[in-house]
Amino acid sequence: MRIESSKQIEHLGAVRVHGVRRVLELDSGTRTSTLLEKSMEAQKIDRETIAAIQQRLAIVLPINNEDLKVFEGVLSGMPHDCVMIVISNSQRGEIDNFKNEQEILSRFCDATKRSALIVHQKDPHLGEALANCGYTEILDENGLIRSGKSEGMIIGILLALLQGKEYVGFIDTDNYIPGAVWEYVQHYAIGFSLSESPYAMVRILWRYKPKISGELYFKKWGRVSEITNKYINHFISTKGKFETDVVKTANAGEHAMSLQLATKLTYATGYGVETQELMSIFEQFGGLLPIVDKTVTEKGVDIIQTETINPHIHEEKGEEHLIQDMLVPSLSVIYYNPLCEEATRQLIRKQLVELDCISPGGKVPKLRMVPPLESVDIQEFTSILEQYLSDYSVPKGWSIWAKSPILGRKVQEVMKLVFTDLDGTLLHPVSYSYAAALDSVRRLQEARIPIIFCSAKTMAEQQVYRQELDVKDPFVIENGAAIMIPKDYFRFPFSYSRIVDDYFVIELGILYQEVRDKLKPLCDKCEAKITCFGDLSTEQVAKVTGLNLRMAELAKQREYSETIIIEGNKKQIQSALNAIKESGLSYAFGGKFYEVYQGGDKEKAVKILMELFKLNFGDISTIGIGDSLNDAEMLASVDLPILVQSKDNHWNRVKIKSLKRVKGVGPEGWSQAASELFSQE
Ligand code: GDD
Ligand code: MG
Repeated sequence: MRIESSKQIEHLGAVRVHGVRRVLELDSGTRTSTLLEKSMEAQKIDRETIAAIQQRLAIVLPINNEDLKVFEGVLSGMPHDCVMIVISNSQRGEIDNFKNEQEILSRFCDATKRSALIVHQKDPHLGEALANCGYTEILDENGLIRSGKSEGMIIGILLALLQGKEYVGFIDTDNYIPGAVWEYVQHYAIGFSLSESPYAMVRILWRYKPKISGELYFKKWGRVSEITNKYINHFISTKGKFETDVVKTANAGEHAMSLQLATKLTYATGYGVETQELMSIFEQFGGLLPIVDKTVTEKGVDIIQTETINPHIHEEKGEEHLIQDMLVPSLSVIYYNPLCEEATRQLIRKQLVELDCISPGGKVPKLRMVPPLESVDIQEFTSILEQYLSDYSVPKGWSIWAKSPILGRKVQEVMKLVFTDLDGTLLHPVSYSYAAALDSVRRLQEARIPIIFCSAKTMAEQQVYRQELDVKDPFVIENGAAIMIPKDYFRFPFSYSRIVDDYFVIELGILYQEVRDKLKPLCDKCEAKITCFGDLSTEQVAKVTGLNLRMAELAKQREYSETIIIEGNKKQIQSALNAIKESGLSYAFGGKFYEVYQGGDKEKAVKILMELFKLNFGDISTIGIGDSLNDAEMLASVDLPILVQSKDNHWNRVKIKSLKRVKGVGPEGWSQAASELFSQE
């Protein structure tokens, strides 16, 4: 995105209010696109920067009985990497709008491989969790959360915090233009990238808000916000010597904040919320009252305003709603702010009388205020809500708060990970026994170090060892064709290809049948004899592999790759392998058999997992253990690659930088390798 450089910045104590910037180009290319990189007029924010921020951004979608088609459109405008948090206050009961919203969100997430949260504002557990944390200001007499968009937003902020996000943004669900929704979220990301402070807010000014009156016309900005802007600017002007009109977004429903800032603000109930956010910032950090929070004043607070290109078309809820629900509360929060001068107050009062909202001499209605969320013990809130979170999550049953076995580890320490091959490495090359490594496996488990199987074996085969060894970590099957991630392992959402049993599956390879279809004609053509496991009986597989019948059966359950035996002289074997390559397939030699697949990639699988661990647990340090050439990709991706000995006590030829060779065949070597991990400390 390319955006105008900021021309006007008003300072109020530690607060920097940036004048509205227009977007010049919705997409300004990648980091490497070069044109107009430096310019006085414009700033480019590349796609990578936007994407990186969106991964740390949660979007809260408040909904109150909106048209479901419109809601669906809003969902499709949400950039893929943002997590969505839907807070609904829609009707339940016989006609259950909330249930429909849940279904729509579920279908959307299922089709687009996304995860989200959806919860009803009146869910009793939410109220209960808040009451237990002593945060009762948004609860009604029954202990439920009060109705209101602002109350919904507050729940949204808490759920964003609970997911460890850095930013939270809000998007109304009555927006007719998915492209506009998409643009808002882009603006949020660019706003944060332009901010110099971790305490940042991005507020959006819609360029046009079309109204349908006979014919469609595009009126510049609504009346309500014009009025609110006027008084908020008056408020700021009275604090200095110069008049200003810098605030143009006093009622911006579409806005986003860093959670560090969001947790410090005092909120207003109902639709006064957006105006009050600004007032709270001015009050706390404007330098007019003694400043309590010194960390914020050092960095400052950036309020960034941007103007969108797409028109804003939303459900019209009538003049009465605009004035009573929105304008009166907005002016009220300015009026009652302790820093508001008498001059501003008089003007506000006059305005409200003119609009017939109060009688001359009448009282300006006062709103209920909600204290900063900083006072909520988020750990406590989470521990109470934990048991219900899987009900709120989409897909259902997925707990956003990981119950993974590694959760109990000490925070802030670098997380160690072990990636390991199975055949010939953790499992003895002849006996398939892991006995010699068992003590080391237990030691790693006690230290909560994940053991990630990364092998040519199928899911079914690996399941056996996972169960026997009680390993609960993610694993890579069939030479990198797919990554299997237990559903409740990672806390942050990620993209996956499908769900199988209790796993999210990230697929990198093509399916078994497609591999077979490509392989078949080659088998017929080649001079070498190619035997596919798929054509062998379980007994035959047991015989050639040395596996027992049960394991041979599981070895045949391939989903992404075919195991083949190639017989012939050297030249014939080589020409068969060449033919395989030419057909677009790949192969890996595991010592006895060739694994044929397409698209699977151990290196990529390992890297994806590393990224997920980093995202969820911070810094990582990795070791990889393997025995043969087909482990090279995995070994090359880790910090400490280790090679164990093969059956006649020799090391296979694997060329990897800083490869460490340990003594011991298979599991014995594995044990040595594991002790390397502890000796690193
Ligand atoms: N969870 C929840 N709870 N959501 C609600 C509630 C509630 O009690 N009431 C309304 N919403 C949802 C609506 O479904 C909609 O998606 C969004 O909050 C905004 O509510 P509207 O009623 O459509 O407000 P508006 O269009 O008049 O005003 C919007 O724009 C103004 C100007 O930008 C709001 O975002 C205002 O807050 C904003 O000032
Ligand atoms: Mg609306």
